[in-house]
Amino acid sequence: MNKVALITGGAKRIGAKIGEVLHHAGFNVIIHYAKSERLADELAGTLNAIRPNSARIIKADLNIVDDKLALERFKNTAIALFGRVDVLVHNASSFYPSDFHDDWQTLQQHWQDLFLTNAKAPLFLSHAFGGELANNHGAIISLLDIHARDKPFVGYPIYNMAKSAHLGLVQSLALELAPRIRVNGVSPGVNIFPDDDQNSALNSSTKDALTCSIPLGKIGTPQDIAQTVLFLINAPYITGQVIAVDGGRSLTLKGG
Ligand SMILES: NC(=O)c1ccc[n+]([C@@H]2O[C@H](COP(=O)([O-])OP(=O)(O)OC[C@H]3O[C@@H](n4cnc5c(N)ncnc54)[C@H](OP(=O)(O)O)[C@@H]3O)[C@@H](O)[C@H]2O)c1
Repeated sequence: MNKVALITGGAKRIGAKIGEVLHHAGFNVIIHYAKSERLADELAGTLNAIRPNSARIIKADLNIVDDKLALERFKNTAIALFGRVDVLVHNASSFYPSDFHDDWQTLQQHWQDLFLTNAKAPLFLSHAFGGELANNHGAIISLLDIHARDKPFVGYPIYNMAKSAHLGLVQSLALELAPRIRVNGVSPGVNIFPDDDQNSALNSSTKDALTCSIPLGKIGTPQDIAQTVLFLINAPYITGQVIAVDGGRSLTLKGG
C-alpha cells in the first residue's frame, strides 16, 4: 500500500513541487488548499493521470485549528481519502512585512494571521494527526526560514517571530513524539520570489540585491526544497534537525 503525504498549502509554488516530488517517489498525496482550488484540482488531475487514484484535494482555511470539531472533521476527512496519513508537511504560510510602528489594531491582525499559519496551525495539526502518524511510524516536515534563527529579516518582525516559534515546535515535537514520529525542518533561503500580485511582492532592485547576496550566485528552486523534504522523510535516524536550502545565504546574513 502506498504511503500518504498531506501537504498544507500544496496547490502551488513550493507546496505543489513537494507534492510532485513525493508523488514521483511513490507517495499518494493529499493537496490541501484554501483559495487555490483551480490549481489544486489541476495538480491532482496531472498526478492522477500519471498514477490513477493517487492524489486528492482537501479545502480548509487553517483557522479551523481554532475550532475543535472542525479540526477533528478535517483530520477524519483527510485520513478517509486514502485510509491513512504517514507524512504531514507544514508548508502553508502567510508572508508579508509588518511595521512595528503601525497601530495596535494592525499589529494585532498581523499577529493573528502570521502566527496562525506559521506557528499555531502546525502545532494543532500535529496534535490532531499525532495518533495517526504514530500508528504509521510517520514523519512531520516543517517549512521554516533561514531568518527563523538568529538572523531576523528587517521589516518582518512578526513573521520572524512566528517562524522562530515554528522552529521551537520542530525541536520540541522531535522530543515529544519520539520514537514513533520523526520531526524535521527545511529552511528555504530565496527559493521562489513572492508572486508579483501579492502584498509581499519585491521590486526588481530588491530581487537583484537578494540574488547577489547568495554565495551560489542564484536563487534556489522549489525542486531544491522538495528534494530535501523527501530526503528527510526517508532518513530514519534524523529527527529534530533543520536543513537550510539557501545556496549559502545564511552564512552571509548579518540580520536583515
Ligand atoms: N518562497 C521562498 O523562497 C521561501 C523562503 C523562506 C521560507 N519559505 C517557506 O516555504 C513555504 C512555502 O513557501 P511559498 O513561497 O511557496 O508559500 P506561499 O506561496 O506564500 O504560501 C503557500 C500556501 O499557503 C496557503 N495559505 C496561506 N494562508 C492560509 C490559510 N489561512 N489557510 C490555509 N492555507 C493558507 C496558501 O494556499 P491557497 O493558495 O490555497 O490559499 C498558499 O498557496 C512557506 O512555509 C514559506 O514560509 C519560502
